Amino acid sequence: MLDHALAAAQCVRVVRDFDHYPGELDFMRGVRANAPQVVFLSIESMVKAMDLLALIERETPGLQVVAVSRTVDSALLLDVMRAGIREFLAPPFDSVAVSETLQRVVALAETKPINMGSTDQLYCFLPSKQGVGTSTVALNVALAISRQPESSSLLIDLDLSSGIIGFLLKLNNSHSVVEAAENAATLDESIWPQLVTRVENLDVMHSGRLNPDFRIESSQLRGMLDFARRHYKTICVDLSGNLERYSLEIMHEAKRIFMVVTPEIPSLHLAREKLGFLNRLEMAGKVTVLLNRSNKRNLVTPGQIEDLLGAPVAHALSNDYQGVHRALQAGRGVDTASELGRQFTHLAGQIQLKKPKQTEIDTKKRFVEYFSMFPGRYSVADKKTAV
Ligand SMILES: Nc1ncnc2c1ncn2[C@@H]1O[C@H](COP(=O)(O)OP(=O)(O)OP(=O)(O)O)[C@@H](O)[C@H]1O
Ligand SMILES: [Mg+2]
Repeated sequence: MLDHALAAAQCVRVVRDFDHYPGELDFMRGVRANAPQVVFLSIESMVKAMDLLALIERETPGLQVVAVSRTVDSALLLDVMRAGIREFLAPPFDSVAVSETLQRVVALAETKPINMGSTDQLYCFLPSKQGVGTSTVALNVALAISRQPESSSLLIDLDLSSGIIGFLLKLNNSHSVVEAAENAATLDESIWPQLVTRVENLDVMHSGRLNPDFRIESSQLRGMLDFARRHYKTICVDLSGNLERYSLEIMHEAKRIFMVVTPEIPSLHLAREKLGFLNRLEMAGKVTVLLNRSNKRNLVTPGQIEDLLGAPVAHALSNDYQGVHRALQAGRGVDTASELGRQFTHLAGQIQLKKPKQTEIDTKKRFVEYFSMFPGRYSVADKKTAV
Protein backbone atom coordinates (compact mmCIF):
# COMPACT_ATOMS: atom_id res chain seq x y z
CA MET A 1 0.00 0.00 0.00
CA LEU A 2 2.77 2.43 0.93
CA ASP A 3 4.66 1.53 -2.25
CA HIS A 4 1.59 2.45 -4.34
CA ALA A 5 1.27 5.76 -2.52
CA LEU A 6 4.97 6.52 -3.08
CA ALA A 7 4.76 5.55 -6.76
CA ALA A 8 1.74 7.86 -7.15
CA ALA A 9 3.65 10.75 -5.56
CA GLN A 10 6.15 10.46 -8.46
CA CYS A 11 8.99 12.20 -6.67
CA VAL A 12 10.63 9.18 -5.03
CA ARG A 13 12.00 5.92 -6.30
CA VAL A 14 12.06 2.88 -4.03
CA VAL A 15 15.59 1.48 -4.31
CA ARG A 16 15.32 -1.29 -1.75
CA ASP A 17 12.46 -3.05 0.01
CA PHE A 18 13.00 -5.10 3.21
CA ASP A 19 10.05 -7.32 4.21
CA HIS A 20 11.51 -7.79 7.70
CA TYR A 21 13.75 -5.82 10.08
CA PRO A 22 17.25 -6.40 8.67
CA GLY A 23 20.28 -6.99 10.87
CA GLU A 24 22.86 -4.19 11.16
CA LEU A 25 25.14 -5.64 8.49
CA ASP A 26 22.34 -6.22 5.98
CA PHE A 27 20.88 -2.80 6.56
CA MET A 28 24.20 -1.00 6.16
CA ARG A 29 25.02 -3.00 3.04
CA GLY A 30 21.67 -1.97 1.59
CA VAL A 31 22.29 1.66 2.48
CA ARG A 32 25.80 1.71 1.05
CA ALA A 33 24.75 -0.07 -2.11
CA ASN A 34 21.71 2.06 -2.86
CA ALA A 35 22.52 5.39 -1.20
CA PRO A 36 18.90 6.22 -0.28
CA GLN A 37 17.96 9.66 1.02
CA VAL A 38 15.01 8.51 3.09
CA VAL A 39 14.05 5.35 4.96
CA PHE A 40 10.42 4.44 5.68
CA LEU A 41 10.69 2.63 8.99
CA SER A 42 7.90 0.42 10.27
CA ILE A 43 7.33 0.82 13.98
CA GLU A 44 5.42 -2.46 14.27
CA SER A 45 8.22 -3.49 16.64
CA MET A 46 9.24 -0.35 18.47
CA VAL A 47 12.35 -2.05 19.88
CA LYS A 48 13.69 -3.18 16.51
CA ALA A 49 12.78 0.15 14.91
CA MET A 50 14.70 2.03 17.63
CA ASP A 51 17.74 -0.21 17.09
CA LEU A 52 17.76 0.70 13.40
CA LEU A 53 17.21 4.37 14.21
CA ALA A 54 20.24 4.34 16.50
CA LEU A 55 22.26 2.66 13.74
CA ILE A 56 21.20 5.31 11.21
CA GLU A 57 22.13 8.15 13.55
CA ARG A 58 25.48 6.57 14.23
CA GLU A 59 26.49 5.44 10.74
CA THR A 60 24.66 7.63 8.23
CA PRO A 61 23.69 10.91 9.83
CA GLY A 62 21.49 12.89 7.48
CA LEU A 63 19.54 9.86 6.25
CA GLN A 64 15.89 10.94 6.70
CA VAL A 65 13.47 8.66 8.53
CA VAL A 66 9.69 8.49 8.14
CA ALA A 67 7.91 6.26 10.66
CA VAL A 68 5.19 4.03 9.25
CA SER A 69 2.53 2.17 11.20
CA ARG A 70 -0.63 0.22 10.42
CA THR A 71 -2.31 1.70 13.47
CA VAL A 72 -2.29 5.15 14.97
CA ASP A 73 -2.65 5.84 18.67
CA SER A 74 -1.47 8.75 20.70
CA ALA A 75 0.95 6.69 22.87
CA LEU A 76 2.66 5.39 19.73
CA LEU A 77 2.92 8.86 18.22
CA LEU A 78 4.43 10.13 21.45
CA ASP A 79 7.07 7.37 21.33
CA VAL A 80 7.89 8.27 17.73
CA MET A 81 8.27 11.94 18.61
CA ARG A 82 10.41 11.16 21.64
CA ALA A 83 12.68 9.09 19.42
CA GLY A 84 13.25 12.21 17.34
CA ILE A 85 11.36 11.06 14.22
CA ARG A 86 9.51 14.03 12.84
CA GLU A 87 7.50 12.39 10.09
CA PHE A 88 4.81 9.75 10.40
CA LEU A 89 2.57 8.05 7.82
CA ALA A 90 -0.26 5.55 8.27
CA PRO A 91 -2.87 3.91 6.01
CA PRO A 92 -4.69 4.81 3.90
CA PHE A 93 -1.65 6.91 2.91
CA ASP A 94 -3.66 9.84 1.71
CA SER A 95 -1.96 11.38 -1.32
CA VAL A 96 -1.93 14.92 0.14
CA ALA A 97 -0.36 13.73 3.40
CA VAL A 98 2.23 11.64 1.55
CA SER A 99 3.17 14.47 -0.77
CA GLU A 100 3.45 17.00 2.09
CA THR A 101 5.64 14.59 4.04
CA LEU A 102 7.87 14.04 1.04
CA GLN A 103 8.22 17.77 0.44
CA ARG A 104 9.40 18.30 4.02
CA VAL A 105 11.78 15.34 3.78
CA VAL A 106 13.28 16.62 0.51
CA ALA A 107 13.74 20.10 2.00
CA LEU A 108 15.52 18.62 5.04
CA ALA A 109 17.66 16.32 2.90
CA GLU A 110 18.85 19.36 0.96
CA THR A 111 19.84 21.36 4.04
CA LYS A 112 21.44 18.41 5.80
CA PRO A 113 23.11 16.22 3.17
CA ILE A 114 23.61 12.62 4.01
CA ASN A 115 27.03 11.50 5.14
CA MET A 116 27.44 8.05 3.63
CA GLY A 117 31.05 7.48 4.57
CA SER A 118 32.24 7.61 0.97
CA THR A 119 36.03 7.28 0.77
CA ASP A 120 38.27 9.88 -0.86
CA GLN A 121 41.19 7.45 -0.97
CA LEU A 122 41.22 6.91 -4.70
CA TYR A 123 44.66 6.43 -6.24
CA CYS A 124 45.47 6.21 -9.94
CA PHE A 125 48.57 4.58 -11.40
CA LEU A 126 49.60 6.08 -14.71
CA PRO A 127 52.45 4.85 -16.93
CA SER A 128 54.75 7.46 -18.43
CA LYS A 129 55.27 5.00 -21.27
CA GLN A 130 54.09 1.49 -22.10
CA GLY A 131 55.80 -1.30 -20.22
CA VAL A 132 57.43 0.74 -17.44
CA GLY A 133 55.87 -1.59 -14.85
CA THR A 134 52.77 0.37 -13.80
CA SER A 135 50.49 -2.66 -13.48
CA THR A 136 53.11 -4.48 -11.43
CA VAL A 137 53.43 -1.46 -9.14
CA ALA A 138 49.64 -0.89 -8.89
CA LEU A 139 49.03 -4.54 -8.02
CA ASN A 140 51.76 -4.78 -5.40
CA VAL A 141 50.94 -1.46 -3.76
CA ALA A 142 47.23 -2.41 -3.64
CA LEU A 143 48.15 -5.78 -2.06
CA ALA A 144 50.40 -4.01 0.47
CA ILE A 145 47.57 -1.61 1.38
CA SER A 146 45.19 -4.55 1.80
CA ARG A 147 47.59 -6.13 4.31
CA GLN A 148 47.33 -3.15 6.63
CA PRO A 149 45.08 -3.52 9.68
CA GLU A 150 41.36 -2.83 9.13
CA SER A 151 41.95 -2.30 5.46
CA SER A 152 39.25 -2.71 2.87
CA SER A 153 40.64 -2.21 -0.57
CA LEU A 154 39.83 -2.62 -4.22
CA LEU A 155 42.03 -2.70 -7.30
CA ILE A 156 40.38 -1.92 -10.64
CA ASP A 157 42.16 -2.61 -13.91
CA LEU A 158 40.93 0.19 -16.15
CA ASP A 159 43.43 -0.49 -18.91
CA LEU A 160 40.76 -1.55 -21.38
CA SER A 161 43.22 -1.88 -24.26
CA SER A 162 45.78 -4.17 -22.63
CA GLY A 163 44.79 -4.90 -19.05
CA ILE A 164 47.09 -7.43 -17.44
CA ILE A 165 46.04 -7.65 -13.77
CA GLY A 166 43.74 -10.64 -14.41
CA PHE A 167 46.65 -12.46 -16.04
CA LEU A 168 49.18 -11.50 -13.35
CA LEU A 169 46.91 -13.02 -10.71
CA LYS A 170 45.65 -15.92 -12.84
CA LEU A 171 42.05 -14.81 -12.26
CA ASN A 172 39.31 -16.80 -13.96
CA ASN A 173 36.33 -14.64 -13.09
CA SER A 174 34.30 -14.28 -16.28
CA HIS A 175 33.00 -10.89 -15.08
CA SER A 176 35.00 -7.71 -15.33
CA VAL A 177 34.92 -3.94 -15.56
CA VAL A 178 32.75 -4.41 -18.68
CA GLU A 179 29.90 -5.95 -16.67
CA ALA A 180 30.43 -3.46 -13.85
CA ALA A 181 30.05 -0.60 -16.34
CA GLU A 182 27.03 -2.16 -18.01
CA ASN A 183 25.32 -2.65 -14.65
CA ALA A 184 26.52 0.66 -13.20
CA ALA A 185 23.02 2.00 -12.63
CA THR A 186 21.81 -1.08 -10.78
CA LEU A 187 24.88 -2.25 -8.86
CA ASP A 188 23.99 -3.75 -5.53
CA GLU A 189 25.46 -5.94 -2.87
CA SER A 190 24.40 -9.13 -4.63
CA ILE A 191 25.87 -8.25 -8.05
CA TRP A 192 29.15 -6.70 -6.86
CA PRO A 193 30.74 -9.83 -5.30
CA GLN A 194 30.37 -11.56 -8.67
CA LEU A 195 32.34 -8.80 -10.38
CA VAL A 196 35.39 -8.93 -8.13
CA THR A 197 37.78 -11.66 -7.02
CA ARG A 198 39.31 -11.78 -3.57
CA VAL A 199 43.12 -12.06 -3.62
CA GLU A 200 44.50 -12.21 -0.08
CA ASN A 201 42.58 -9.33 1.49
CA LEU A 202 42.16 -7.35 -1.73
CA ASP A 203 39.16 -7.27 -4.06
CA VAL A 204 40.28 -7.18 -7.68
CA MET A 205 38.25 -6.27 -10.75
CA HIS A 206 40.02 -7.16 -13.97
CA SER A 207 39.51 -5.49 -17.32
CA GLY A 208 38.02 -8.45 -19.18
CA ARG A 209 38.89 -9.94 -22.53
CA LEU A 210 40.46 -7.84 -25.21
CA ASN A 211 37.64 -5.62 -26.38
CA PRO A 212 39.03 -2.61 -28.25
CA ASP A 213 35.58 -1.24 -29.12
CA PHE A 214 34.41 -1.04 -25.53
CA ARG A 215 34.25 2.45 -24.02
CA ILE A 216 33.17 3.40 -20.54
CA GLU A 217 30.65 6.23 -20.48
CA SER A 218 30.93 8.95 -17.85
CA SER A 219 27.67 7.92 -16.21
CA GLN A 220 28.85 4.30 -16.00
CA LEU A 221 32.15 5.33 -14.46
CA ARG A 222 30.33 7.49 -11.94
CA GLY A 223 27.95 4.67 -10.97
CA MET A 224 30.84 2.23 -10.47
CA LEU A 225 32.94 4.71 -8.54
CA ASP A 226 30.10 5.85 -6.30
CA PHE A 227 29.37 2.25 -5.39
CA ALA A 228 33.03 1.39 -4.79
CA ARG A 229 33.63 4.52 -2.71
CA ARG A 230 30.85 3.58 -0.34
CA HIS A 231 32.19 0.06 0.08
CA TYR A 232 35.96 0.35 0.31
CA LYS A 233 38.39 2.48 2.25
CA THR A 234 41.01 2.49 -0.50
CA ILE A 235 40.62 2.15 -4.25
CA CYS A 236 43.59 1.75 -6.59
CA VAL A 237 43.12 2.07 -10.34
CA ASP A 238 45.56 0.79 -12.96
CA LEU A 239 45.38 2.93 -16.10
CA SER A 240 46.73 2.64 -19.61
CA GLY A 241 48.92 5.59 -20.52
CA ASN A 242 46.63 6.62 -23.36
CA LEU A 243 44.85 9.36 -21.39
CA GLU A 244 41.42 8.29 -22.63
CA ARG A 245 38.46 10.40 -21.53
CA TYR A 246 37.50 7.96 -18.76
CA SER A 247 41.12 7.93 -17.54
CA LEU A 248 41.09 11.71 -17.27
CA GLU A 249 37.75 11.65 -15.49
CA ILE A 250 38.97 9.19 -12.91
CA MET A 251 42.23 11.11 -12.44
CA HIS A 252 40.19 14.25 -11.75
CA GLU A 253 38.48 12.31 -8.96
CA ALA A 254 41.68 10.81 -7.58
CA LYS A 255 43.38 11.97 -4.43
CA ARG A 256 46.79 11.20 -5.94
CA ILE A 257 48.12 10.14 -9.31
CA PHE A 258 51.21 7.94 -9.25
CA MET A 259 53.13 8.36 -12.45
CA VAL A 260 55.46 5.43 -12.97
CA VAL A 261 58.71 6.10 -14.82
CA THR A 262 61.90 4.13 -15.47
CA PRO A 263 65.36 5.67 -15.60
CA GLU A 264 65.40 5.64 -19.39
CA ILE A 265 65.26 8.65 -21.64
CA PRO A 266 62.11 7.73 -23.65
CA SER A 267 60.14 7.07 -20.45
CA LEU A 268 61.34 10.34 -18.92
CA HIS A 269 60.57 12.28 -22.07
CA LEU A 270 56.98 11.02 -22.10
CA ALA A 271 56.69 11.59 -18.34
CA ARG A 272 57.57 15.22 -18.93
CA GLU A 273 55.03 15.49 -21.73
CA LYS A 274 52.32 13.94 -19.57
CA LEU A 275 53.16 16.13 -16.59
CA GLY A 276 52.82 19.15 -18.86
CA PHE A 277 49.47 17.91 -20.10
CA LEU A 278 48.22 17.20 -16.56
CA ASN A 279 49.48 20.60 -15.49
CA ARG A 280 47.29 22.24 -18.13
CA LEU A 281 44.34 20.31 -16.65
CA GLU A 282 45.40 21.50 -13.18
CA MET A 283 46.18 17.98 -12.03
CA ALA A 284 49.98 18.13 -11.86
CA GLY A 285 49.84 19.13 -8.19
CA LYS A 286 48.59 15.70 -7.22
CA VAL A 287 51.10 13.72 -9.27
CA THR A 288 53.72 11.70 -7.41
CA VAL A 289 56.54 10.26 -9.48
CA LEU A 290 57.56 6.66 -8.80
CA LEU A 291 60.86 5.54 -10.25
CA ASN A 292 60.55 1.85 -11.11
CA ARG A 293 63.33 -0.55 -12.08
CA SER A 294 65.84 1.66 -10.37
CA ASN A 295 69.33 0.35 -9.69
CA LYS A 296 72.63 1.75 -8.56
CA ARG A 297 74.17 1.47 -12.01
CA ASN A 298 71.50 3.66 -13.62
CA LEU A 299 72.98 6.17 -16.01
CA VAL A 300 70.36 8.68 -14.94
CA THR A 301 70.20 9.41 -11.19
CA PRO A 302 67.01 10.24 -9.25
CA GLY A 303 68.32 13.78 -8.75
CA GLN A 304 68.72 14.25 -12.49
CA ILE A 305 65.24 12.84 -13.05
CA GLU A 306 63.85 15.41 -10.60
CA ASP A 307 65.68 18.12 -12.52
CA LEU A 308 64.28 16.87 -15.74
CA LEU A 309 60.69 16.46 -14.64
CA GLY A 310 60.49 19.45 -12.34
CA ALA A 311 58.82 17.15 -9.82
CA PRO A 312 60.32 15.08 -7.01
CA VAL A 313 60.85 11.36 -7.31
CA ALA A 314 58.92 10.21 -4.28
CA HIS A 315 60.00 6.58 -4.23
CA ALA A 316 62.51 4.48 -6.05
CA LEU A 317 61.53 0.84 -6.61
CA SER A 318 64.31 -1.66 -7.26
CA ASN A 319 64.83 -3.50 -10.47
CA ASP A 320 64.12 -7.12 -9.53
CA TYR A 321 63.35 -9.07 -12.64
CA GLN A 322 63.63 -12.45 -10.89
CA GLY A 323 61.38 -11.45 -8.00
CA VAL A 324 58.72 -10.04 -10.34
CA HIS A 325 59.00 -13.11 -12.56
CA ARG A 326 58.60 -15.53 -9.61
CA ALA A 327 55.49 -13.64 -8.48
CA LEU A 328 54.09 -13.80 -12.00
CA GLN A 329 54.61 -17.56 -12.20
CA ALA A 330 52.86 -18.03 -8.86
CA GLY A 331 50.04 -15.60 -9.74
CA ARG A 332 50.56 -13.46 -6.64
CA GLY A 333 52.37 -10.39 -5.33
CA VAL A 334 56.12 -9.93 -5.04
CA ASP A 335 57.65 -11.61 -1.95
CA THR A 336 57.09 -9.15 0.92
CA ALA A 337 60.47 -10.07 2.45
CA SER A 338 62.42 -9.05 -0.67
CA GLU A 339 63.83 -5.54 -1.06
CA LEU A 340 61.21 -4.68 -3.70
CA GLY A 341 58.46 -6.20 -1.51
CA ARG A 342 59.55 -4.02 1.42
CA GLN A 343 59.55 -0.96 -0.81
CA PHE A 344 55.95 -1.66 -1.83
CA THR A 345 54.98 -2.03 1.86
CA HIS A 346 56.72 1.24 2.69
CA LEU A 347 55.03 3.04 -0.18
CA ALA A 348 51.62 1.70 0.91
CA GLY A 349 52.27 3.05 4.42
CA GLN A 350 53.21 6.49 3.06
CA ILE A 351 50.09 6.65 0.90
CA GLN A 352 47.87 6.06 3.89
CA LEU A 353 49.43 8.84 5.95
CA LYS A 354 46.83 11.47 6.75
CA LYS A 355 49.18 14.38 6.05
CA PRO A 356 51.61 13.54 3.29
CA LYS A 357 55.02 15.12 3.45
CA GLN A 358 55.19 18.17 1.16
CA THR A 359 58.18 18.40 -1.09
CA GLU A 360 59.26 21.62 -2.72
CA ILE A 361 59.82 21.38 -6.42
CA ASP A 362 63.31 22.37 -7.37
CA THR A 363 62.87 24.62 -10.36
CA LYS A 364 66.55 24.51 -11.36
CA LYS A 365 66.68 22.17 -14.31
CA ARG A 366 70.32 21.73 -15.17
CA PHE A 367 70.06 18.18 -16.39
CA VAL A 368 67.31 18.95 -18.86
CA GLU A 369 69.75 21.02 -20.90
CA TYR A 370 71.60 17.84 -21.91
CA PHE A 371 68.66 16.66 -23.96
CA SER A 372 68.24 18.68 -27.08
CA MET A 373 65.27 16.49 -28.06
CA PHE A 374 63.09 18.00 -25.36
CA PRO A 375 61.20 20.90 -26.85
CA GLY A 376 61.17 23.86 -24.50
CA ARG A 377 61.04 23.49 -20.78
CA TYR A 378 58.31 22.07 -18.75
CA SER A 379 57.86 23.45 -15.30
CA VAL A 380 55.19 22.92 -12.72
CA ALA A 381 56.54 26.22 -11.45
CA ASP A 382 54.94 27.26 -8.21
CA LYS A 383 53.06 24.03 -7.63
CA LYS A 384 54.07 21.72 -4.80
CA THR A 385 53.97 17.99 -5.14
CA ALA A 386 53.21 15.88 -2.11
CA VAL A 387 54.85 12.54 -1.42
N1 LIG B 1 60.55 -3.48 -10.45
C1 LIG B 1 60.66 -4.31 -11.50
N2 LIG B 1 61.78 -5.02 -11.70
C2 LIG B 1 61.89 -5.84 -12.76
N3 LIG B 1 60.95 -6.00 -13.69
C3 LIG B 1 59.81 -5.32 -13.58
C4 LIG B 1 59.59 -4.43 -12.47
N4 LIG B 1 58.36 -3.89 -12.60
C5 LIG B 1 57.83 -4.41 -13.74
N5 LIG B 1 58.69 -5.26 -14.34
C6 LIG B 1 58.48 -5.99 -15.58
O1 LIG B 1 58.21 -5.03 -16.60
C7 LIG B 1 57.32 -5.54 -17.57
C8 LIG B 1 56.15 -4.60 -17.74
O2 LIG B 1 55.40 -4.58 -16.55
P1 LIG B 1 53.88 -4.11 -16.48
O3 LIG B 1 53.00 -4.92 -17.36
O4 LIG B 1 53.54 -4.06 -15.03
O5 LIG B 1 54.04 -2.65 -17.07
P2 LIG B 1 52.94 -1.58 -17.53
O6 LIG B 1 53.56 -0.23 -17.42
O7 LIG B 1 51.69 -1.78 -16.79
O8 LIG B 1 52.75 -1.95 -19.04
P3 LIG B 1 51.54 -1.50 -20.00
O9 LIG B 1 51.98 -0.23 -20.61
O10 LIG B 1 51.47 -2.64 -21.01
O11 LIG B 1 50.32 -1.36 -19.18
C9 LIG B 1 56.91 -6.91 -17.08
O12 LIG B 1 57.68 -7.87 -17.74
C10 LIG B 1 57.26 -6.89 -15.60
O13 LIG B 1 57.55 -8.17 -15.10
MG1 LIG C 1 49.74 -1.90 -17.37
